[in-house]
Amino acid sequence: MDAVALRWAVVRGNAEVAPGVFLLRAEGAFRARPGQFYMVRAWERDPLLFRPLSAFDLSPGEISFLYGVRGRGTRLLSRLSPGEELELLGPLGNGWPEPPGRLALVGGGLGIAALYLAAKAFGGADVYLGFPGRPFLVEAFREVAAGLRVASESGEGGERGLVTDIFSPEGYDACYACGPRPMLAAIWEACRRAGVALFVSLEERMACGLGACLGCTVFTKDGPKRVCRDGPVFRAEEVFDA
Ligand code: FES
Repeated sequence: MDAVALRWAVVRGNAEVAPGVFLLRAEGAFRARPGQFYMVRAWERDPLLFRPLSAFDLSPGEISFLYGVRGRGTRLLSRLSPGEELELLGPLGNGWPEPPGRLALVGGGLGIAALYLAAKAFGGADVYLGFPGRPFLVEAFREVAAGLRVASESGEGGERGLVTDIFSPEGYDACYACGPRPMLAAIWEACRRAGVALFVSLEERMACGLGACLGCTVFTKDGPKRVCRDGPVFRAEEVFDA
């Protein structure tokens, strides 16, 4: 496991990229493999817990996180301005495996947060993104994807429909996906039929992020697993019916 550190970082930017969705950039030399996450907070004691956020991007001297405002903690994060400080604990989790060949990345909604660094680091991957509302950060993905298709409910910014309507696993050696469970289950069904390996990144509520509290436990074919410590990336056949 990577050395985990608790560090302060200074906010460089916190832009609202879609209604209620923010891209938080923080200064510092941080590390993360694609698919890993940090526990993030910008408050002292209340709320008690850090928020788990995927490392969206890394560049020399900067790390960024994509998050949606879902409760008090993320609302506090959304009010951060450049120059203010936040605490980062990580990098945490296993991250995506090295791809075995031709790779497809499939993201739904805020699940795209776990995929950008993978597209950038692995290179040559085709990316499929789906959004319930107006698409966001599409141009950023276009710069790092070999191919890009986008689906949204209105058809704005791409094709009308769900990401599961535009993705087919044929021709890929592996697919990495993150998004709502029904989306992951549908992708698994398609990959299973096509004989394509699928890895999924699960989004669960977390308390400690370190494997100690068992608050993020999911039940897999191999028994209970902690999303923070054993995941967040799992082989799809561990978490879905074959
Ligand atoms: Fe505590 Fe995963 S969040 S064990």
